[in-house]
Amino acid sequence: MLKNSEQNYGLVSRANHWISAVLFIGLIAIGLYMSDLEKSPEKFELYDLHKSLGIGLFMLMMLRLVWLKISPNPEQISNNKFEHILGHAVKGIFYLAMIMMPISGWIMSTTGGHDVSFFNLFTLPVLIGENEMIHEIAEEIHGTAGTLMIAVILLHVAGALKHHLVYKDATLLRMLGKNQKEQ
Ligand code: HEM
Repeated sequence: MLKNSEQNYGLVSRANHWISAVLFIGLIAIGLYMSDLEKSPEKFELYDLHKSLGIGLFMLMMLRLVWLKISPNPEQISNNKFEHILGHAVKGIFYLAMIMMPISGWIMSTTGGHDVSFFNLFTLPVLIGENEMIHEIAEEIHGTAGTLMIAVILLHVAGALKHHLVYKDATLLRMLGKNQKEQ
């Protein structure tokens, strides 16, 4: 089943979730590693890879927004009001991060005088040319948000595990494709 139902995630949303999750975690790991490297060909290759994967994540986020219109997500499974609100907040933060992090990275690169290309297939236009002040602001936003997102991911994974191990509900299983009986 491609589409989501009232209680289950369809294949499109599940695939988008897991591919985005791998990209998101990979981007943070590469980002942290590459920024500590001395200037070298490896460092520049990793920057190019980081930018290409970041554009990929942004494209998946755009597809996700289109797909949400076509096929809304099932409602969260929860009996706890605080956790319900927290779940929605974390989801909102992820959505915002998947839009704002690629955009701040793009601005950071072009204001620093660097191109942003997608695996050398196409290059993004330069919206704002070289500008040291904007470069530093974008760098601060991109770096701080990246670090904060590590805590958000840990919270999200802890939430998924709590649903699975403590509440023993279908939250994690349905994201893994084990569909629940529709009621
Ligand atoms: C091992 C890591 C992860 C696990 C175990 C996991 C698990 C889950 C589960 C079980 C749900 C369904 C929640 C529900 O039905 O209410 C979910 C939803 C979601 N997760 Fe994750 N997740 C992981 C990593 C990530 C990462 C890194 C991101 C960031 C991109 C992310 C973003 C989202 C979003 C935005 C949703 C809401 C549903 C949607 O719009 O697709 N997840 N996750």
